[in-house]
Amino acid sequence: MTILVTGGAGYIGSHTVVELQNAGYDVVVMDNLVNASKKVIGRLEAITGKKVPFYETDIRDREGLEEIFTKEKIDGVIHFAGLKAVGESVEKPWEYYENNISGTLTLVDVMRKHNCKNIIFSSSATVYGDPAFVPITEECPKGTCTNPYGWTKSMLEQVLSDIYKADNEWNVVLLRYFNPIGAHKSGTIGENPNGIPNNLMPYITQVAVGKLPQLNVFGNDYDTPDGTGVRDYIHVVDLALGHVKALKKFESGSGLNIYNLGTGAGYSVLDIVKNFEEATGIKIPYEIKPRRAGDIATCYSNADKAAKELGWHAQYGIKEMCADSWKWQSQNPNGYDE
Ligand code: NAD
Ligand code: UFG
Repeated sequence: MTILVTGGAGYIGSHTVVELQNAGYDVVVMDNLVNASKKVIGRLEAITGKKVPFYETDIRDREGLEEIFTKEKIDGVIHFAGLKAVGESVEKPWEYYENNISGTLTLVDVMRKHNCKNIIFSSSATVYGDPAFVPITEECPKGTCTNPYGWTKSMLEQVLSDIYKADNEWNVVLLRYFNPIGAHKSGTIGENPNGIPNNLMPYITQVAVGKLPQLNVFGNDYDTPDGTGVRDYIHVVDLALGHVKALKKFESGSGLNIYNLGTGAGYSVLDIVKNFEEATGIKIPYEIKPRRAGDIATCYSNADKAAKELGWHAQYGIKEMCADSWKWQSQNPNGYDE
């Protein structure tokens, strides 16, 4: 089976390519490199010992997609490609809707023309908004997103669901990720944010490596055990393995499926600081700052559905997530830049 991985040079996509190749799938990667480095491809080949066919193509480029689907025999698509910076999406909503929504519509159109009707889509826990209850099951109603990025995920879930409803030959798997952190055990691939990181773990690792002076903790007055925000952090390799398991849904032709990919455990910001310090022996200075606009207090999954139906559950604990994030950052203080 040949899987096209869109956004396969990015953080989650690259880790998924490794696990797909390890599981025996043929993989074709496409990425426009707007938020990734071409060096990732060489590193992937070094990890798996296999060639990684790569197309520098944009999902909005119909001709480019046509070329891939004509040259390669694609059986299914894992669709990671998209812009994902929450704050930037508030400033540039048009760019986010255009890239993520137009891009996905073009991709899906080319797929159906080539009779490829199997897609796994990268969705997010952000679609639950401020969740109606925790732990969040897939039955939790979708909520009001606080930013255009979140709306692109919510809208694309609807688009793909409607496409399945109109044509039951499609297999659509919507995977709602919680908070991926960590990196491949080799420390040769990992998360490589542009500029100052928005997300907690890359911020902490950049403090640890000396690029940033201290962590700013956004609020300690939430209704949580220590007042700081609680999230469901998941090792990116576990997340990648969730995609390999989800591929089985293509083989069984089971239609439209939605799964949370999380660990089911919630950790506060200060829990993460403590675990990072214990896992690495590095002190993380921090200061309490005001709340960040749009943040919610608590978000963690109930991941029983993925366990039951996919036979998947997260294997790595928080210490390994911290240690592996650090291994990547310490071996690559400037990410993929030399
Ligand atoms: P990432 O930015 O590292 O990867 C996305 C990749 O898509 C990048 O390599 C980028 O160059 C590429 N891309 C963007 N627009 C493109 C286009 N028009 N054509 C071709 N390629 C394009 O991000 P990631 O963390 O690996 O996220 C992967 C997917 O998972 C995204 O869809 C993201 O929204 C989703 N997601 C991420 C998180 C998270 O916390 N990292 C959480 C939930 C969902
Ligand atoms: N935080 C800080 N300081 C920082 C960064 C974050 O205190 O410098 C706190 C936040 O306030 C929050 C927690 O750390 O309480 C996690 O924040 P992240 O920015 O790492 O993650 P979010 O849960 O806000 O959002 C992430 C992605 C979203 C995605 C969501 C759910 O950025 O795109 O996880 O998957 F939708």
